[in-house]
Amino acid sequence: MQIGIIGAGMVGGALANALTKVGHQITISAREPAGNNLQSILRKAGPNIQAGDNQSVADFGEIVILASPWPSTKEILKGLSGLKNKIIIDLTNPILADFSGLDKTIRSGGEAVAEWASDAIVVKTLNHISSNMMDHPSLEHGKPIIFVAGDDNAAKSIVVTLLEELEFEAEDCGALSMSTHLESLAWLYINRAMVQNKGRHFAFTIANAIDKEQ
Ligand SMILES: NC(=O)c1ccc[n+]([C@@H]2O[C@H](COP(=O)([O-])OP(=O)(O)OC[C@H]3O[C@@H](n4cnc5c(N)ncnc54)[C@H](OP(=O)(O)O)[C@@H]3O)[C@@H](O)[C@H]2O)c1
Repeated sequence: MQIGIIGAGMVGGALANALTKVGHQITISAREPAGNNLQSILRKAGPNIQAGDNQSVADFGEIVILASPWPSTKEILKGLSGLKNKIIIDLTNPILADFSGLDKTIRSGGEAVAEWASDAIVVKTLNHISSNMMDHPSLEHGKPIIFVAGDDNAAKSIVVTLLEELEFEAEDCGALSMSTHLESLAWLYINRAMVQNKGRHFAFTIANAIDKEQ
């Protein structure tokens, strides 16, 4: 599949590696195409990746992954054309500039993204796991659970398949309005990792009861 990634930072780099490993073709953008981040991603991910500007990423991708900082996201999306019926994976988190929490003046980042990219099909996912755990992570047991929220079932099903290729356990958790809960889950992750200093080498998992009568 042709996948576009907007943003060549920690997340963009991890996903570029993970997705090229399972055979996808990537076009990726950054603010500064000649910058070190983007150039090192291109070197590491091999022949199935190329750099482009945001519009060429959007044109290339059957799926476009939004891996931009929250403050740049509105401007990026408003500057794009041709998004009609395109799947956008939104993994941004609407974190306030002073890092004190999530922006509660909006219903959710996922819904704001859907408003800014009004013709696209937005699927919120991958926002509640750290970038260092996105490229085929090994856990002590189980697989990372990655929730998927969106209003289009066919798009969610394509995204679930993609996540399963990356060896995540992917679970549809409902409409795009569930984004607010996925963003709170991300904030819980960030708090545990950075405020409580427990590091970023973990993922949420689902463990079902063995005995269903419990
Ligand atoms: N880091 C994580 O573990 C993690 C996990 C889940 C979700 N997220 C979310 O994922 C998003 C990206 O996080 P990150 O940690 O990867 O950020 P990051 O390392 O700061 O990278 C951001 C990237 O976006 C690029 N960018 C900024 N403005 C742009 C624009 N106008 N057009 C194109 N590219 C632009 C930057 O380009 P330059 O390189 O040229 O500056 C940089 O490559 C954030 O919304 C974050 O909340 C992060």
